[in-house]
Amino acid sequence: MNLFLKLFLVSLSLTQPCEAWAPSSVESSSASSAGTKDGLSRRNFMATSVAGAVLAGTSLTVQPAPAAAATTGLDLVQPNTLNGKVVVITGASTGLGLESAKALAKGGATVVLTARSEKKGATATDVVKQYLQAEGVQNDKLYTVLLDLDDLANVKSFPARFEKTLGEGTKIDVLMNNAGVMAIPDRQITKDGYERTFQSNHLGHFALTAKLTPYLKSDARIINVSSLAYQMAGKGLDLDNLNGEKEYSQWGSYGQSKLENILFTQELQRRADAEGIPLTATSLHPGAVNTDLARNMMGGEKVWYEKKERGPTNAMENILQATINKTLLTPEQGAATQVYLAATNDAEEKGKFYSDLKPQKLPAFATDEQMAKALWEQSEQLSGVKFSLKGN
Ligand SMILES: NC(=O)c1ccc[n+]([C@@H]2O[C@H](COP(=O)([O-])OP(=O)(O)OC[C@H]3O[C@@H](n4cnc5c(N)ncnc54)[C@H](OP(=O)(O)O)[C@@H]3O)[C@@H](O)[C@H]2O)c1
Repeated sequence: MNLFLKLFLVSLSLTQPCEAWAPSSVESSSASSAGTKDGLSRRNFMATSVAGAVLAGTSLTVQPAPAAAATTGLDLVQPNTLNGKVVVITGASTGLGLESAKALAKGGATVVLTARSEKKGATATDVVKQYLQAEGVQNDKLYTVLLDLDDLANVKSFPARFEKTLGEGTKIDVLMNNAGVMAIPDRQITKDGYERTFQSNHLGHFALTAKLTPYLKSDARIINVSSLAYQMAGKGLDLDNLNGEKEYSQWGSYGQSKLENILFTQELQRRADAEGIPLTATSLHPGAVNTDLARNMMGGEKVWYEKKERGPTNAMENILQATINKTLLTPEQGAATQVYLAATNDAEEKGKFYSDLKPQKLPAFATDEQMAKALWEQSEQLSGVKFSLKGN
């Protein structure tokens, strides 16, 4: 199919875009390499950037134009409105996590930016500091704590690092489970033996939340960044294929993981309610946002950032760049819903799935209580972490 036609179709978010863009199924299993084997032309890079981000955020139904989404996460928070709050954001080194860190730090919250390396954490913290300085906001309570969701031992030791950095007895007001990967072309296996998308997007966050339970305030807010791509899970969660062992496809795995975020949220809320714990769990779709999320389908991190830095170098690439800019939300806009959920006190939202700052209806397969319970139990088994809310 002609490149521009594809681009056009994807940009309009037509009903079944995935087949046009993504290889339907990748059977291969590779140990850990990031990225694809084949080199991608820059033209494909730019086009797939649009497709990737659009698909990340879309839908199998038509979305509102970005122009309509004037609100940004930064607009939603005013200085000194979050003083005394402690917020932990996973995947804060870039994209929506970094934007959320900026907005919540602007409000005066203590913000813990998790990152996979000291360097990424320091760079992200500098970005937040520069933003605060430009806004004339004083907030030194920014911390980096290392976290790699693809390593369960690292996840399990996160609370110790958190306590060491923030001080004993520090309690968390907001846990934003934001980190994620999308559409990894081949079935990659983590050191724990799980398919990477499943572990990064769901299992790691499940274990992290369980381990952080004793550190959460009883009325904490747990925000799980999902996606409308949950619809790519088709008829619902395949409990016999959580790990992609029966069948793997890059979009299928992403869709399942985003459905898992939603089901985990609902089950967490049900269990908290049953225990009489006033925590609030929500999930959300940020929109189709121009972040670095498509990097795994684009040859990996190195290729992605090199090409991003170089920018468009010819007329065709300029057109594609303009299309990206027009089609997708900026990270500032995309972070609005998760920032809203972190900063609001609206009690109506418990257990709900949000988009555009509002709760959304979900189909039956995304509200299946039996499935959510079974996912919870399997997640406990696979992560080796018993999830008890009692210590909260
Ligand atoms: N962008 C969209 O259009 C869109 C749409 C719907 C939903 N979402 C969701 O939004 C969330 C944030 O994505 P984004 O768009 O901001 O993408 P992004 O710019 O690629 O940011 C993803 C973040 O997750 C981190 N991360 C990935 N794997 C990790 C792991 N194993 N352990 C710890 N951190 C890890 C990354 O850290 P590194 O830099 O170290 O890799 C990075 O900080 C994701 O959950 C995504 O599914 C995004």
